[in-house]
Amino acid sequence: MKHVLMELPYEQSALEPYISAETVSYHYGKHHAGYVNKLNSLIEGTEYADKPLDYIIKYANNSIFNNAAQVYNHDFYWKGLSKTATSPSVKLLGLVERDFGSIKAFEETFLTAAAGFFGSGWIWLIITGEGKLEIKMTSNADTPLRHGDTPLLTCDVWEHAYYIDYRNGRPDYLANWRKLINWNFISDNLAKVENDPIAGYNQSCNEINQVCDYVDYMQKNETTPS
Ligand SMILES: [Fe+2]
Repeated sequence: MKHVLMELPYEQSALEPYISAETVSYHYGKHHAGYVNKLNSLIEGTEYADKPLDYIIKYANNSIFNNAAQVYNHDFYWKGLSKTATSPSVKLLGLVERDFGSIKAFEETFLTAAAGFFGSGWIWLIITGEGKLEIKMTSNADTPLRHGDTPLLTCDVWEHAYYIDYRNGRPDYLANWRKLINWNFISDNLAKVENDPIAGYNQSCNEINQVCDYVDYMQKNETTPS
């Protein structure tokens, strides 16, 4: 199967002034697109030619793995950004407060890890099989999918993600990346992971009373973090 470059969920200028259209143009249009094209050319005639991305990430090695993982990682990165205000679901907020103390403490821990990470790679918020939120770092193209962890959010700390706008100033990039975190995306990922009725907690409840009660409870207690 031919892998296709994802459509960005916004205009290339939508993340300005924090991430410029020029950066998005190079990062998405050259780097991300390059991984997709390279992957398609590498898998031609191999056992991976007809396999979906997650299968390739799980089983392939070397260049095929690197390019497949970079396609996945970049898909995840773009979806995790939003210039529009977003907020965590009640469920996510509860987990963040339990595992990090607060949204602010989580962001600071995440950004400290990202700023101190050596070399090129990715910083992730993942949820473990036991339901615990953790921050993980992966080098180069490596990705939590390969290790059985479920990602909820990622930040690209390859220099190509910020060099045009910030030169070598990774902390400046991170301080502005923080303003673009798409909490709706993280919340949706969490809901999918848990296969939980709160996946639709802000929609109509169904005929199962227990779900209706839960939806009522969640809606009543929903708050937006300061
Ligand atoms: Fe990148």
